[in-house]
Amino acid sequence: MSGINYSDKIPNNVNLVSDRTLQRALEHWQPHFLQWWHEMGPSDFEASDVYLRTAVSVDAQGWAQYGAVKMPDYRWGIFLADPVQDRKIGFGDQMGQPVWQQIPGEYRSTLRRLIVTQGDTEPASVEQQRLLGHTCPSLYDLRNLFQVNVEEGRHLWAMVYLLHAHFGRDGREEAEELLARHSGDADKPRILTTFNEPVTDWLSFFCFTYFTDRDGKYQLKSLAESAFDPLSRTCRFMLTEEAHHMFVGETGLGRVVKRTLEVMKEIGSDDPARIRAAGAIDLPTLQKYLNFWCSSSLDLFGSEISSNSAANFAHGLKGRPDESQYEDHVLRDKNMKLRMPEGVQDVPMLNALNEIMRESYLKDCEIGLKRWNRAIERAGHAFRLTLPAPQFRRSIGAWAGLPVDPTGNLIDKKIFENQLADWIPSEADKAFVRSLMRKVIEPGKMASWVAPPERGINNLPVEYEYVKLH
Ligand SMILES: [Fe+2]
Ligand SMILES: [Fe+2]
Repeated sequence: MSGINYSDKIPNNVNLVSDRTLQRALEHWQPHFLQWWHEMGPSDFEASDVYLRTAVSVDAQGWAQYGAVKMPDYRWGIFLADPVQDRKIGFGDQMGQPVWQQIPGEYRSTLRRLIVTQGDTEPASVEQQRLLGHTCPSLYDLRNLFQVNVEEGRHLWAMVYLLHAHFGRDGREEAEELLARHSGDADKPRILTTFNEPVTDWLSFFCFTYFTDRDGKYQLKSLAESAFDPLSRTCRFMLTEEAHHMFVGETGLGRVVKRTLEVMKEIGSDDPARIRAAGAIDLPTLQKYLNFWCSSSLDLFGSEISSNSAANFAHGLKGRPDESQYEDHVLRDKNMKLRMPEGVQDVPMLNALNEIMRESYLKDCEIGLKRWNRAIERAGHAFRLTLPAPQFRRSIGAWAGLPVDPTGNLIDKKIFENQLADWIPSEADKAFVRSLMRKVIEPGKMASWVAPPERGINNLPVEYEYVKLH
């Protein structure tokens, strides 16, 4: 079952040939996808040979193969993790019953919305990152960007397969819409705000892959728990690919910190102006980028109190990430204390699941910061990077639009507005970061603002020519 059929027009491990109607429908969508990739995917690198990994099986060991590929020839396909024998629903009111291979009619529209919302983020991020290739800090980074891009394209395929296979005509229409909305488009934007934010520099790209792809990880983890088994299997395999995206973010930001510390040592100063003059990114500026992308990504988890997520959990549609680590999987008689603008409230835990997800997400985000702070400490500096409080700069939920500072204090609105440019990148900060973004394409060479990675991809040296530009 885990082997992938690459002789089909659409590579797959779902025995697509056995369902002619579905196969034809997906083969009809395929050229629309390729056209979208051509128009909205990485601009100008279609003729380049990129050292990419392609899934060849869904086994945890050795699931990918590496080689030079031109991106438009990438074999996007449909790969589901192997089924778990006799899998049972792991949470909610139907816990213990067999999982579903088909969607119960009453959950159809909710599941469609969940799948469309997840699916929408995948092509959105490719669109957001469309121009980054022109300012890559190295060939190694350029390759990683393109690897992330083709895999987000494949994640779109993963969701489109579910829409086509399980939602009939509505699903096919949704699949077309996924290519019709575009990131930042005034008339037809992407569904979620974070996926309409421009990602025009590599510092933002590293923050995006650190914070926003990590939100993706948490969404996929909670959908991998779903009673709808095809969704669970799809998400489980997507998580295998997703790990690399966060690796790009975590090592990218770590390399920024490393380079900044090197420059601080070289010039013997922690003066931001002097660090900037030496071509590196001062730590206070990095902090602002962290504040921006972390707070934007926190909104993706939704409102603190949500009857939708309570229903999704109770019905078995969407669990908590790593559901098995919890003791109570029904949550009918548990409460939880939530910090709200009016004070601490006691709410049914079932209604606070977004907050539970947000909290475990933030814990995961802390891991990188601890590592970077250790490096800063070892270099003898007092500065520490921090995550903003979850109430800071929120657009969704109880704290939406409230003047909260990055440490979580509700403050005067005027003071908030005046100080905001100290907390998130100002126009001047963005202009400075943009000024550093110059294309470096000599194999093994790095831009001035980022240290080389510790190792290359797939055991190749850092100096390897990961992208052959033509
Ligand atoms: Fe993705
Ligand atoms: Fe991703």
